[in-house]
Amino acid sequence: MDGHMAPRMDLAAIRADFPILSETVRGKRFTFLDSGASAQKPRQVIGAMVRMMEKAYANVHRGAYHMSEQATEAYEASRRAVQRFLNAADEREIIFTGSSTNAINLVAHSYGRGVMKPGQAVVISEMEHHANLVPWQMLRDAHGIELRVARITDAGELDLEDLAAKLADGKVGLVAVTHMSNVLGTVTPAALIARMAHEAGAKVLFDGSQAAVHRRVDMQALDADFYVFTGHKLYGPTGIGVLYAKAALLEAMPPFLGGGDMIAEVTFEKSIWAPIPGKFEAGTPPIIEAIGLHAAIDYVEAIGMPAIEAHERALVDRAMARLPHIEGVTLLGRAQDRGGVFAFALDTAHAHDVATLLDRAGIAVRSGRHCAEPLHARFNVESTCRASFGLYTTPEEVDLLADALGQAREFFR
Ligand code: ALA
Repeated sequence: MDGHMAPRMDLAAIRADFPILSETVRGKRFTFLDSGASAQKPRQVIGAMVRMMEKAYANVHRGAYHMSEQATEAYEASRRAVQRFLNAADEREIIFTGSSTNAINLVAHSYGRGVMKPGQAVVISEMEHHANLVPWQMLRDAHGIELRVARITDAGELDLEDLAAKLADGKVGLVAVTHMSNVLGTVTPAALIARMAHEAGAKVLFDGSQAAVHRRVDMQALDADFYVFTGHKLYGPTGIGVLYAKAALLEAMPPFLGGGDMIAEVTFEKSIWAPIPGKFEAGTPPIIEAIGLHAAIDYVEAIGMPAIEAHERALVDRAMARLPHIEGVTLLGRAQDRGGVFAFALDTAHAHDVATLLDRAGIAVRSGRHCAEPLHARFNVESTCRASFGLYTTPEEVDLLADALGQAREFFR
């Protein structure tokens, strides 16, 4: 690729890969602006999962017969695809979980209860989604860990001075922050946060549920200790998430769930754990979902993260040129570095009513507090609508949203 030219992608061809995008909603074209909640799936993902069920399915790591060996190879190939996707040093650093939420709970249990000592602290930020807040509250209550909340600025950026202050006493064992806010769209300076955490003697976890979809994320460049993301927001299936963790940490952590596959040896007296990653994958794993995730990674990599990022930047610019100028619309957060997630309130109507009106125009947005109640309290808003873009979102859809919002303002006047 020529370094001076923005990478391009063929949007029409991409949209044709997603069967649901040609559906209509009450006779109107379906304008899907809720990819932040869960993204739609391309034929390539759907096909890979169906093919596996039709032609190559059996349980993994358990059978000496051909189909099981084939399924095991496909499952482990998915792990290697995730390793490459994240630029992790070692495939054993990739743990398949059920979701990002499961992955964070795994860390809260195994690292939090198993490695951290009572009296230590976890630092999160004011912009965390409940999945990166509630497990730490549970850890605090169960294990005597202090929970500190680093402030964000009115622009919706992490307040790095406050983070430094929260790290200053050296008691912090873990900094756990989002890499991209699911409400504000803010992309946090992850490499800098990791450096600050490490200098203070803490480990760092990034919730990459949103970021991994929109940006190239590189574990070695970030020097992340833990990184989580989920399949269903990355155009893959539900029911699969990923925990990346440095091998030395996984080796030091006790297992989270006990059962089949996570053991090397079992007697009635005791069990010996399997080596990583098996130690953290008890029970039959999400096999078909892993195949779907692999197909999703292949799909986004074939388009290329630089092209996806460039497309999204153009959508963000378009949204910023329109949404803040609509009378009565207030946007939450104005971070410099942001992705295609826009939460907004309309002065004359409740978010659910706005979303219902948009739905009549075929436009799907999320309304409520987006699993981030404390963040809404921080901005003194009861609820918002949220539009979030995917790689298939078109500039015209951004315009449709802006036009419909202008009309909604008139309607609710
Ligand atoms: N975390 C997802 C969202 O932001 C569910 O909508």
